[in-house]
This record gives sequence, structure tokens and C-alpha cells, in this order.
Amino acid sequence: MREFAARPVIIDCDPGHDDALALLLAAGDPRLRLLGVTTVAGNQTLEKTTRNALRILALAGVADVPVAAGCDRPLVGDLTVAEDIHGSSGLDGPDLDMPVAEVADVHGVELMRRLIGGAAEPVTLVATGPLTNVALLLRRHPEVMPRVRRIVFMGGSTDRGNTTPYGEFNIVTDPEAADIVLRSGLPTTMIGLNVTHQALATTEIIAEFHRLGTRIGTVCADLMTFFASTYHRVFGFEHPPVHDPIAVAAVIDPSMVRTVAAPVAVELTGTYTRGATVVDLHRRTARAPNADVAVGLDVDAFWRLLMAAVRTVGGAPGPSNGLG
Ligand code: BDR
Ligand code: CA
Repeated sequence: MREFAARPVIIDCDPGHDDALALLLAAGDPRLRLLGVTTVAGNQTLEKTTRNALRILALAGVADVPVAAGCDRPLVGDLTVAEDIHGSSGLDGPDLDMPVAEVADVHGVELMRRLIGGAAEPVTLVATGPLTNVALLLRRHPEVMPRVRRIVFMGGSTDRGNTTPYGEFNIVTDPEAADIVLRSGLPTTMIGLNVTHQALATTEIIAEFHRLGTRIGTVCADLMTFFASTYHRVFGFEHPPVHDPIAVAAVIDPSMVRTVAAPVAVELTGTYTRGATVVDLHRRTARAPNADVAVGLDVDAFWRLLMAAVRTVGGAPGPSNGLG
């Protein structure tokens, strides 16, 4: 077997049904070394997203990864949570135990600073919620920037939005934070709705989670069943898109996501478009590219990767006869 060094990552998240799958993928794939998890207010309040991160990691049997709560509101303005999509707990659907593990006694931004400073090699930040914590890290501790390998974030879109006609939830929730990250000069990868809407948790995918025959498999199936009901009610989608784990997949296997380097700006003032990502795919402006923008996804490979990770963390008996 080929030897490889697992890539160090920090996940900054707001679980969230799809964030939960992102955490399981990061915990279960041997090509990543999960250094820490930080939480941010977004899909639900900070208290709830932090509790949910702890619940998912406990379910996955991950005990040695610190979890720290970060910012409880966007840099500017008030927080509007996505209760219509993720429910009042932020992870409605499955019957989940309350966490036994404690949240770290340090702010999420400080945990990131320490983990990046202490890592033997540059760290990849994967952000699956509003970019508040990441922006604050770059502003307060610019000395960490040479030690950040890349920021891969789920957010934005090359076309339409899901929170406003042109704005995606994570960016609309904290446009100033996204602006800081995209202007930072660090390598960034944008995983937007234009690709995440291809990764649908179909009935067959939910059945495949059930077939794993593990507690985690059942929880994933229940999460996706709830997510399907809200996506159907709110957006009329037949199957829900699982946005966040694609950002993790892009770090594990970059060939799974096709990207193009493009200038991306965040609209901060538009009357109808605040929080929209303005992606200059056809290079019609003089701006230099500041992001690798996802434009394509190998959907089957993505689901194989996710199923394998969920099987690993769940301790399933062996490969199933379905998609995994
Ligand atoms: C993003 O918003 C949240 O609801 C999801 O967790 C995802 O990060 C999709 O727009
Ligand atoms: Ca999220």
C-alpha cells in the first residue's frame, strides 16, 4: 500500500444537516487529519450549532478532536438563522443524544490560531458556514496566513441564490466576512450552489444509508429524510442537495471537483443583491482571479467517498451491495 501523509484540516461549521455529513466525511477519510472543529452561528444559534457539532463527533466516536465555539453573530448586523431548513435544533430529524464531551474553553478563532501555529505543515481551512470566524482569524492574527494552505468554503454561486434571488445563505449571512476572506490573498476554493445542487440525497442514497446497518447510517438517513421534507416544502426540490461535504471532498480528492480560476467579488451594498457572489467566469473585468471556483462535480465519486467515510466511522461490517 502507498504511504501518504494525511492532510491537516480544521472544519469551521454551523451544523446543520449537511455540515453533519461534512464532519463525518472529515472524520472518516484517512487522507485527512482533523485537527479541530470550530463553530459559528448560521443555520442556528451558536449554542445550538456547537451542541450539534459535539453530538455528531460523539456519534462518530471522535473523542480527541477539540471543538470550540466561535462567533455568535455576523461581523455586521443581526443573525437570521435557517430554521425553515434545519429545524429548531439545527439538526431536526434523528433522535440524537445530548453531548457528553465538553466544548473547549477557548474561543473558536483562538483555537484556530493555536492549531495552525502548532501544526507541522500548512493547514487547510474548510468553512461550511458563514465566514465570520475565518475572517476574524485573518484580521486579528494575520501572522497565521503563511501557514494556511488554502481556504475551501461552501458558499456563493455562479448563478442564482437560495436565500435571496442571487445570494446564497452562508455569504448572505455575513457578506463582510466573505469579502475579507476573498480579498485576503490566500488561495481559496469556492464551492457554490451551482455544483452543490448536483449532489442530491435521493431516495436511493437514503436507502443506502439505511443499508449500512449502523447507528450512524440510520442517523444520516433520518437527517436526509428531514432535509428532504424542508427542501421540498421551501424550494419544491424533489431531493435535497448536500452542500457542505463537497467542500471536504474537494480537499480529499481535488480531481472530484472541476474548478476555474476567476475573480469573485461579494456584493456588499446592492439593494436587492447584498451577499451575492459576483463571479467573473468569462473575465469581462480587469480584476485578477482570487478564487478557484467549482464548476463541475463527479457526483458518483462523491457519493462513493461519503458512503465509505460513513461506513468507516460507523464501523459497518463491510461494503454494501448498493452505491457504496
Ligand atoms: C449552506 O447553507 C446552509 O443551510 C447549509 O448548511 C450550507 O452550508 C447552503 O446554502
Ligand atoms: Ca453549513
